[in-house]
Amino acid sequence: MTSHHRTRASWTARAVALGRAVGRGDLHDGLAERALPRLARPAVRGLRAAATLPGGRAAVAVGLGGLNVHAALRMTAVDAEVERAVLAGIRQVVVVGAGYDSRAWRLEALRGASVVEVDRPATQRRKRAAMADLTPLADVQFVAADLAEDSLLLALAPTSWDRQRPTLWVWEAVVPYLDDSAVRSTATGLAELSAPGSRLVTTFAHPIGGGGLAGAFVEGGARLVFEALGEPLRSSYDDWDITALVTEAGFEDPVVTGASEWARAVGQDAPRLVFAAERLVTAARR
Ligand SMILES: C[S@@+](CC[C@H](N)C(=O)[O-])C[C@H]1O[C@@H](n2cnc3c(N)ncnc32)[C@H](O)[C@@H]1O
Repeated sequence: MTSHHRTRASWTARAVALGRAVGRGDLHDGLAERALPRLARPAVRGLRAAATLPGGRAAVAVGLGGLNVHAALRMTAVDAEVERAVLAGIRQVVVVGAGYDSRAWRLEALRGASVVEVDRPATQRRKRAAMADLTPLADVQFVAADLAEDSLLLALAPTSWDRQRPTLWVWEAVVPYLDDSAVRSTATGLAELSAPGSRLVTTFAHPIGGGGLAGAFVEGGARLVFEALGEPLRSSYDDWDITALVTEAGFEDPVVTGASEWARAVGQDAPRLVFAAERLVTAARR
């Protein structure tokens, strides 16, 4: 890992927080604007207001390259998985690569549950500062760790996380930034730390572009942007590969969904502008 990750907070975490802050209609994260510089917050409110005007919704989505739609739908899909896990009796959640995840402050289902957030130190410091004046609904604990270098077991040791109890692992929008070997070792590590009944909720990215020359340009351009900003895209999987990966890691019953299913589940139309070929895989530990 380069040293700037120790000193610089993640920009991709901020970008998805911007997407959730703008959101899509009712699907938005009212706490996400805390991740943004103070000066940017009125613009977020402006965009939300603009989206209520005739034609505004499409214009905002185009302006943001669909980031707001994708981030809002993804948030809703993962929220639903959290709620489902709580209904199934899981009372501890570990958010891996948490960024500005606001679920511990926002989701009623997590009231009184234990939530451990794991991220690199610089991002986590900024996140904690952003939330400092708010009382979370859950019992939140923070641990700083680098998934490419540190042992998650050691990182979790000082927290109240209990290996004997089932865990919900929320690993959202992190896989693309890890190389294949770090994805595999992290997935295997999560499975090993999973008591029976644990669940995994992970997003991953399809190869961008969809083949062909145009696809190669899109993929090349996207890669360049992420790379230039210091968070290169390091892995992508198709549905079949990710299903095999989580199964080999030790999870069972993998189910893969994407933005059109997430939209349908909340009665919204499927997004026309696809910001990212990012999908969700859920699985369980028996
Ligand atoms: C796109 S953000 C997603 C944040 C959050 N999960 C969300 O969905 O809003 C990616 C996050 O992964 C974290 N991350 C990336 N590589 C990591 C690593 N090797 N170890 C720990 N965290 C990492 C970043 O610091 C950042 O917070």
